[in-house]
This record gives sequence, C-alpha cells and structure tokens, in this order.
Amino acid sequence: MFDNIEPAFLTKDQARQELEFLAKRLAELDNAYYQDDAPLLTDMEYDRLKKRNEQIEALFPDLVLQNTPSKKVGAKPQEVFSKIEHRKPMLSLSNIFEEEEITDFTDKVRRFLGLSFENMIDFVAEPKIDGLSYSALYIDGRFVKAATRGDGAVGEDITQNIKTIKEFPLSLTAPFPKEVEIRGEIYMTKADFFALNEQNEREGKKLFANPRNAAAGSLRQLDAKITASRHLSLFAYTVGDTSEEIWTTQWELLALFKKWSFPVAKEIRLCHTDSDLLNFYRYMQEIRADLPYDIDGVVYKTNRVDLQQRLGFIARAPRWAIAHKFPPTKAQTHLNNIRIQVGRLGTLTPVADLEPINVGGVMVSHATLHNQDELIRKDIRIGDTVIVQRAGDVIPQVIEVIKEKRPADSQVFVFPDKCPVCGSKVFRQPDEAIHFCSGGLICPAQALGRLQHFVSKDALDIEGLGKKNMETFFELRWITNPADIFDFETKYKSELIRMEGWGIKSAEKLFDAINNVRQGVALDKFIYALGIQGVGQATARLLAQRFVSFENFENQMCSLLGKEELIQIDGIGDVMAEDIIEYYDDDLSW
Ligand code: IVH
Repeated sequence: MFDNIEPAFLTKDQARQELEFLAKRLAELDNAYYQDDAPLLTDMEYDRLKKRNEQIEALFPDLVLQNTPSKKVGAKPQEVFSKIEHRKPMLSLSNIFEEEEITDFTDKVRRFLGLSFENMIDFVAEPKIDGLSYSALYIDGRFVKAATRGDGAVGEDITQNIKTIKEFPLSLTAPFPKEVEIRGEIYMTKADFFALNEQNEREGKKLFANPRNAAAGSLRQLDAKITASRHLSLFAYTVGDTSEEIWTTQWELLALFKKWSFPVAKEIRLCHTDSDLLNFYRYMQEIRADLPYDIDGVVYKTNRVDLQQRLGFIARAPRWAIAHKFPPTKAQTHLNNIRIQVGRLGTLTPVADLEPINVGGVMVSHATLHNQDELIRKDIRIGDTVIVQRAGDVIPQVIEVIKEKRPADSQVFVFPDKCPVCGSKVFRQPDEAIHFCSGGLICPAQALGRLQHFVSKDALDIEGLGKKNMETFFELRWITNPADIFDFETKYKSELIRMEGWGIKSAEKLFDAINNVRQGVALDKFIYALGIQGVGQATARLLAQRFVSFENFENQMCSLLGKEELIQIDGIGDVMAEDIIEYYDDDLSW
C-alpha cells in the first residue's frame, strides 16, 4: 500500500492503514501456504513483509491489531525441542477427594500460620483445567520464551508454538515487573477437540482420546505450523519467578493477568469460609458439563501472597494450595437398545445404545455391557433407566439400573445363537464368559476388523487408511484382504480420485503410504498386524527375534513341531502357543 515509504517515515494514519493491509495480505499468504500448500510468494518476499509489519508495530505500539500477523509463526521445523530451565521449579499440587477434607486443609493452613480457629483467611477457588501447564518469561514487558512443565525443573522450548495461540499476549501493558514468569494452562476447548477429531476421521488420521491429549499432540509439534493449524486456548493462573511483586493477593494477580490481556477462567471465586469453598466445588461439579473446556477438579489457593510465602512448600507441592478432584463422572440416562458388536477376533460384545447424555463434558451415546454374565448380573433390560460412568479414557460403562424407574414393557435381551452379522453359529467357550462367532473370515465384521487392525498405527501404520476409509473400501469390495491394499493403486486409482472427499493429492498421499510399506516393514510389526489372538506388540517382538524372517515363522508354525518351538521362547506359554498354532491350523490366516 505505502510499500515505497520506509516505516520510520509513515504518518500515524498511513501506519494504521498499512498494518491493516499487511494483516490481510499475510493472512492470505499464510492460507495459501498452510492450507493449500501453494505459496504465493518466495520465503524471502514473505519474510520482508512480516518484518515490515513488525517494524511498524514497534514504531506504533498502540496500533497493533488484535489479530496481528506477528503472533503467527512461519518458522521452519526444529530438529528436536530445546530445553529451557525454569527460573523457579514448576510444582504440582497435592490432591483431596472428599468434601470433608476441605476443613482439614484450611485447618492445616491456619495451624501452620499460628492462627486460631476464629481467624478465617481468604482463599481463591479456581477450576482445575485439564490441559498442559506452561511458563512464559517476559522481560521489560516483552515476551521472551516459554516452556512446558517438563520434569518441573527443565521443560521443552515452546516459544514458537505458544506464539501461534491467538490469545497469547506478546507484550504486557504497564505496570509489570521487570522480569516475570507467567504460568498457566494450555488447553483445547471441547468444541475444537470434536472438530479436530471429525476432520482427522475424515482424513483417516489418528483420533485423540480427549481434549488434553489433543492439546498435547498439537502443542508438542516441532513444526510450529502444525500447532498454528490447530486451535489451542490458554489461561493464566500463577507466576513463577518475578523481580517484583506488584500484587499482594492471588485475587489481585488474576486481575492483573486480565489487564495484561491474559485469559483468566471466568469461574473464579474469592472464598471467606469453608462452606464458600464447598459451595464452589459443588457448583463447579454441576456446571462442569456445560463448560467449554474440561476440568478435573478445582483448586483452592491461599489468597494473601505474604501468607503463601510463609507457608512455603512440601516436597513438590505448595502448602498454600490444594486440588480438590472430582469423582469419576456418572450420569443417568435411558437405555434405548442393546445390540451385539462383533470384534475382529469374533468376540460378541453387548453394547448399550443410550439416549445421548453429557458425562463430565463428553457426549456419550454408547456404553459397553461387557458380556452376557454381566448383563444378567446387573439385570439390565431394554427400556431401563441406567447410570453410566466414564473415568478417564476408558469406554463408558453402564454401572447400574434404577429399578424403580423400570417401565412395564422393559425387555430382557436374549443373547443370539447366530452371529448378527454373518449368521454363523455362536459358541461360548467353557469356563469363559465370552461368546464367539464361528464365521472366521467369512464374517464381514471380523474381516473388516482385521483389516483395520492390519493397517493401524502400531501395525503397518498406513496413514489414509483409517477406520472409516477402510470401511468404505471394504463395502465397495475394493479391499477385502491385505493383498488388495497393494493392488489398490493399479485397480482403483481413477475411481478413488473421483470419489467425494478425495482428490489427486490425497489419493497420492495414500498410495505413497502404501508404497512405503511395500518397501518393507519390521517383522514384529508385521506379525502384530496379523492380529493373532493374544499376540500383542511385546509377543510379536519375541516372535520376530526368534524367527527372524516371516517365511521362517510361517513354515515353523505350519510344521508339526510349531508348538514345541514356541514354548521354548521365554515369555510364551502354553495358551499363547496354542492360539498361534490355531491361527494357522484353522486357516484363520488370510
Ligand atoms: S496452580 C504451585 N491453578 O494442575 C501451584 N494449577 O495437579 C501451581 N492446574 O501442574 C499450580 N488448573 O498444570 C494451578 N487453576 C489452576 C490450575 C492448575 C490446572 C494444573 C497445573 C498443575 C497441576 C497440578
């Protein structure tokens, strides 16, 4: 716009217009570069514009735009994360789980300070955000560097990555300490987590188990461009090292954070009594599901900084603060139906279809009912009102039925004697609670499940052949056994390119991934990929060490002495050896 005028000679009005122009232009260039893989300018020309933008910002700091391009990063990927030593260690928090322990905590604090029972002191109650903690150093109000918690003493350098987070301030507005480490949590909102997983599913990429993992996976990227393409958020909640304390309480500090444009959780409360703390805990538990981010409890902090300093630390946690964790999340909902899922090894698992319900921030619409014995023991019927529990990453479970709410027309689920997918006979192994479909590879559920396992992350790891995509190709009969994967390009390239959601680029990426595997795969990964009952990654490694080549392994397994060979291996017992032999005996192999 005013490209021919040196930044130093711009009038304020021109500078304003130029910053707006540059923000738009750089966003357009970023888009072309990151989203379309099609840069519009050379790196040198791009860098010149970026630098010009920074120079104008330095000259006119009050004109810096909210969405300034200088917050976005175009740096080249680093080789490994460099380390940053925290000026003060990043500690963790002690935990309490019961409501009664609130008083134990506040009593202990008062006792340590030599205060009597009547001397109540204030605490700040905050949500305990389930993300990753960071420490960001500012000198003279300018952001210098940031690190993850690491081992508490030394963390990983995330300076470039944190800059890609829109809300992260690159400078502080006065007053501020000359040098200060600002600390808080980086997280992904539930909405961004669902959107990311949906996109990954479409593209056949790995799905994240929860927002925390997604945030970690997005932040710990050597290439900050990847971090930039994900949407991360952050909060500030404490300081590490600081040259001066220009606040006297945690409450004031949180207000200062806001003044410095740091996001602070909305749900914070200044508490005067134990029942204030308890009410906050109960309130947060109530609204937990409606919060845009995941929390796993609340944190109580002694408000006055001078008291915090007197209280100090025990081992790796402050004496002045404590985390009050939530119990595993439960919710009540309606059980609409029970159906059978057939696993890749033929196991029949009863699954409950539930009226969708928010359990601790995650929408749950299915839960495992484990097996027939569990169903009978808990007397779970279709139409029942049930309690569902979700703890951490585990699959949601139905833990009990509310018998009083059982409708008159509830139905007992009858376990099928034929596989619901292929119609083969179902059998139950003596002494085991599990039912199996006898169809083997004739059963589409088993065949598809085994193919999905074959290409999964820990097996052949073919990116682009995620669960959904494999299901589509299986239904089209394009891939029905492993050999089809390697003929895929020759046979279906033109069809794939024309398919919705695919194009030349994505198809070629998939073929590259397949060709990569064609060049050779480690034997242990290949054995694991076969999906033999009981053969996990560790056993696969033992087998690979022993048999060295796949040919040798197969020959031995098909020979009469196969089992003897196997039980000689340290770590392989009778049952496992039989399962492996059975895989070849019963022609379970492809
Ligand atoms: S204060 C010395 N406040 O919880 C006190 N921590 O289990 C330092 N966390 O490592 C922490 N929300 O990552 C504090 N409002 C909050 C928090 C919080 C989440 C995390 C933090 C810490 C961990 C300890």
